[in-house]
Amino acid sequence: MCAFNYRFMPATRLARQLIEQGEIGDIYHFRARYLQEWIIDPGFDLVWRLQKDTAGSGALGDLGAHIIDLARFLVGEVDAVSALMKTFVPERPGGIVDVDDAFEAIVEFACGAVGTLEASRFCQGRKNALTWELNGSKGSMAFDLERPNELQIHLVGSQPGGVAQGFRQVIVSESHHPFWKHWWPQGHLLGWEHAIIHELHHFLSAIAGQSEVRPYGADFEDGYRAAEVCEAIARSATTGQREPVRYRSL
Ligand SMILES: NC(=O)c1ccc[n+]([C@@H]2O[C@H](COP(=O)([O-])OP(=O)(O)OC[C@H]3O[C@@H](n4cnc5c(N)ncnc54)[C@H](O)[C@@H]3O)[C@@H](O)[C@H]2O)c1
Repeated sequence: MCAFNYRFMPATRLARQLIEQGEIGDIYHFRARYLQEWIIDPGFDLVWRLQKDTAGSGALGDLGAHIIDLARFLVGEVDAVSALMKTFVPERPGGIVDVDDAFEAIVEFACGAVGTLEASRFCQGRKNALTWELNGSKGSMAFDLERPNELQIHLVGSQPGGVAQGFRQVIVSESHHPFWKHWWPQGHLLGWEHAIIHELHHFLSAIAGQSEVRPYGADFEDGYRAAEVCEAIARSATTGQREPVRYRSL
């Protein structure tokens, strides 16, 4: 299993459930941002996360991989990307920074949807701000990790009708909501760590033969595919060209 823990937020799982049930219709757009602020100070040391030989890449592999996985989890495979990467502070106490501080990417999905992905460690005021929005023919959904129990949902044609259309804030903490059977009475909220517990439960259940890792957990193939999307983003940032995502077979 590959530890993409954000799949295990109840709001994310509910979003996936609504897509599977056809409630959102054909997906047109997916845009996700993962923003942090912790290395803005140029005097911050060259830690392992800022070195290519230990971390592989910067914001792309650390933060981008999570939103790439969410894009695949909610929308499907990514066919091609157009991207840029930026290192704002190329030298720090301890040496040269050879990874990206931020990346921006336009993505094309196999299903025909389009979207944008963005991650940065240079966003003043953003602590661990992962947000996404998805727009389909029948509705839209949005999520903000800083409000982890909530899923914003707009469904076209929902009651009470034309004069009061718009997003509603669903608190994903009813007894019938994903994962809730393991926890508290309704409305007694969950945090970041609970998604990790859901993930470990999923992992152990799969080992015990009670469930499969896929489709709700990420397996090695999902980890590999997210890494190939990262590679395509890095290639596009280097070539300045739109790059197809290439998946190799064994
Ligand atoms: N899924 C998520 O949301 C999420 C969030 C944060 C971190 N992570 C991942 O968790 C891992 C750790 O991240 P972190 O933020 O805790 O990093 P960190 O730098 O704060 O901690 C790493 C620890 O590993 C120790 N260490 C390094 N090399 C070691 C070795 N050879 N043997 C034993 N210990 C060693 C270091 O001394 C340090 O205490 C990373 O792979 C990171 O990508 C995942």
